Amino acid sequence: MDPLPARPYFLPGGFPSPEEALSPGAEEGNDPRPGPRLRPLDISEFGTFKDSKAAPIHGWFQYPAGFSYRAVEFALDWNRLGRGDRVLDPFTGTGTTQVVCKGRGIPSAGTEAHPFVARIARTKVFWDYDYAELQEAVGRFQAHLRSSREEARHAAEESVPPLLGKCFSPSNLRGLLYAKQEIHRRAPPPFRDLFEVALIGALRQASGAATGWPYISPRKRITEKDGIDTFLSQLDRCVRDLGGTPPRFRRTPAEVVEGDCRQSPFQDASFTFAFTSPPYLNNYDYADRTRLEGYFTGFARSWGEISQKVREKLVMSATTQVLRSRFRTTDILEPAVWDASPAVAEEIQRKVDLLTERRWEKGGRKSYDVLVGQYFNDLTRSLKEAARLLRRGSRYMLILGDSAPYGVHVPTEAYLGRIACGLGFQSYRLFPLRSRGDKWRSNPQRHQVPLKESLLVLER
Ligand SMILES: C[S@@+](CC[C@H](N)C(=O)[O-])C[C@H]1O[C@@H](n2cnc3c(N)ncnc32)[C@H](O)[C@@H]1O
Repeated sequence: MDPLPARPYFLPGGFPSPEEALSPGAEEGNDPRPGPRLRPLDISEFGTFKDSKAAPIHGWFQYPAGFSYRAVEFALDWNRLGRGDRVLDPFTGTGTTQVVCKGRGIPSAGTEAHPFVARIARTKVFWDYDYAELQEAVGRFQAHLRSSREEARHAAEESVPPLLGKCFSPSNLRGLLYAKQEIHRRAPPPFRDLFEVALIGALRQASGAATGWPYISPRKRITEKDGIDTFLSQLDRCVRDLGGTPPRFRRTPAEVVEGDCRQSPFQDASFTFAFTSPPYLNNYDYADRTRLEGYFTGFARSWGEISQKVREKLVMSATTQVLRSRFRTTDILEPAVWDASPAVAEEIQRKVDLLTERRWEKGGRKSYDVLVGQYFNDLTRSLKEAARLLRRGSRYMLILGDSAPYGVHVPTEAYLGRIACGLGFQSYRLFPLRSRGDKWRSNPQRHQVPLKESLLVLER
């Protein structure tokens, strides 16, 4: 990988320049090559999806767990990555890292364990359409839907889980289901996934129930929009965005593997950089949050099916994933964590024990003890795998937050940095991005611990 750029970037107060931060010995001007100059960046939003919402391609599906595409741009600039590199995102999500890489002609690959989310990412990184054919196919399909509104209104009822009936009026839902059916009937294969992603992206925009993430509140009503119209304009957006992609990079590889980052199919030392945001230890249930889309597409029809198809494949980050009988909390950490860092393993075990006590005090409801232990087991395995995939001398950057279940502070990012150093990484550094979870200030029932989001930088 290229050394760090010569001139410090223009970064907001407190955030160090790459030289100060990552190579303390380097003096400004040592590197004769001109570095790219950055605009001032609002790093506090790096961990949120706010920037990505309106951005071309990134905004096709508003994944609340996504992060800012600007964070990836920043990382690529900071590390001076180019077309000779290959970037890994172990927790690909909806593909933010890979969309940015592809836009610069940088090959990338990643794993995403949630099958439905992996499909969205795969669609977002496929740009190799014959553009004239795409425009034609979209125009034809739009004309068909516009002219068959009557049919849509009288389409046969499809039996769907009740949640859908709470989000849409019967006629609107019928229209959306009709659009789905017509995609399957009429959209030719290279375009089918794109049409479906456009339709999925329209769901929350059209819903008459407040479907803002993370929770759907069926009782909170908002203005419902016509589903078919919303879908048609989503399709326009997709065509426009694809038209704006750089033609010379449309075939740059961006591989999205539906699978587990703890056991990925990629070769040893085949990446020169990695960037990701793993699940936080914050009780966010990815399977639950995509229920609306899962039910609509028929990917799952019940809570049980969602659990089986999604939950069990993901690293543990929510107490809803915990089956308590499977774990012994007194000795929960796997040997890999102890081998990587006995001191951190001991600290984690102490937090787990404390959480077992708190659980009894709180009436035995939430299994945060199991969650914390298992989270570090899972993340340790993912770091070990990343160490295998990354070339020596390369860098792995992660956006992540700490947490305080039942008021017990768990410095996730520091623990993971220390664990990584026992798994083949040479060093770690932490840069705070923002404070978060300030709700505790106004809610005495919640914990009193200020939380933050940080950038963890690992040197391989
Ligand atoms: C914070 S999100 C990443 C969001 C992503 N940056 C984006 O652009 O949408 C974490 C992702 O990790 C995925 N995940 C959880 N366990 C996984 C595993 N074992 N292997 C791969 N992905 C996993 C979740 O489904 C989720 O999409």
